[in-house]
Amino acid sequence: MAAEPLSNGATHLSVPGRYILPVHKRPSSSVNGKWALPVVDLGGDDDGTIAEEIVRAGREFGFFQVVNHGVPEEVMGAMMRAAEEFFALPADEKMKYYSNDGKKLPRFHTSLRNGTGEEVLYWRDCLKLGCHLPEWPDKPRGLGAALEPYTAAVRAAARRVLRLAAVGLGLEEEHFEGSLSGGGMMNVNHYPPCPDPRLTLGAGPHCDPGLVTVLMENVGGGLQMLLHGDGDAGGGGMMWVDVDAAPGALVVNFGHQMEVVSNGRLRSAEHRAVTGARAARTSLATFVWPEPGCTVAPAQELVLAAGEGPLYKPYSYGEFLAVYVAEGGVREAVMAHLK
Ligand code: SIN
Ligand code: FE2
Repeated sequence: MAAEPLSNGATHLSVPGRYILPVHKRPSSSVNGKWALPVVDLGGDDDGTIAEEIVRAGREFGFFQVVNHGVPEEVMGAMMRAAEEFFALPADEKMKYYSNDGKKLPRFHTSLRNGTGEEVLYWRDCLKLGCHLPEWPDKPRGLGAALEPYTAAVRAAARRVLRLAAVGLGLEEEHFEGSLSGGGMMNVNHYPPCPDPRLTLGAGPHCDPGLVTVLMENVGGGLQMLLHGDGDAGGGGMMWVDVDAAPGALVVNFGHQMEVVSNGRLRSAEHRAVTGARAARTSLATFVWPEPGCTVAPAQELVLAAGEGPLYKPYSYGEFLAVYVAEGGVREAVMAHLK
């Protein structure tokens, strides 16, 4: 039996047992709140410098925030309001879109398992939408009107990031254009207040499947990434750090396809979402990824330049997605299939 969506009922007074993570998987206290997310100003006029900043942040962290990204404030605001309104709808309106069929769009679902067969649920409801917008839920009424300009502007910002990343890597500016970035979708995530955030996660540790993800959130304090400390950052260990962006900024992270195409130069960082006790949090992740039939492989120029050979074999993106889903997005498990 599929779980009832978290946003369908009354306020949660305690955490139901099946949402309680085993002790070693709880978020615990391994977070260093002082870490600062790099800022990339996309509005600057020296593209060479911006390209270098993107490649540096991508190499060191796989995460950064963009400002002057060209997505108008009112477009972001209207999109966030429509997203919040969707989750506040009566259960029967949302359930029209409820499905456990991963291929269906739009699709409302809850409680994703992490693909390892464990019976633990995550504290999140989600509305999945197509990026090329053939369809969206008919309620709330403003959703379609908000989505079109938001998606167009966010995809344009992502395209600028990809062009700059290509330049910074020493590739043709157009390397990621066309079928390599022609696909995608959007996750509208909703995390209701959780009575005990120490026991749950909103999303388990994973890497994103595509090239690049652009995230907008209504309140901070939910997203964390796994920081690999070499040298000063963490004494060689790993720790979860908060990914907090400035108001109005968008969070950008690279996915598996970027790590593959860059032959390992840019990092697809593991991240997760923790829950909060007070406010409900809504986040919108726009994924830019290859078309399903597209062949993905390390860029030839980078393989030759390094003289190290390709770190990954070519594959079709459709095949990759099947592996990704089967492995629950867990970084090492997914990467092992690509070597
Ligand atoms: C995710 O990466 O799956 C969730 C991101 C977020 O809600 O911040
Ligand atoms: Fe993610």
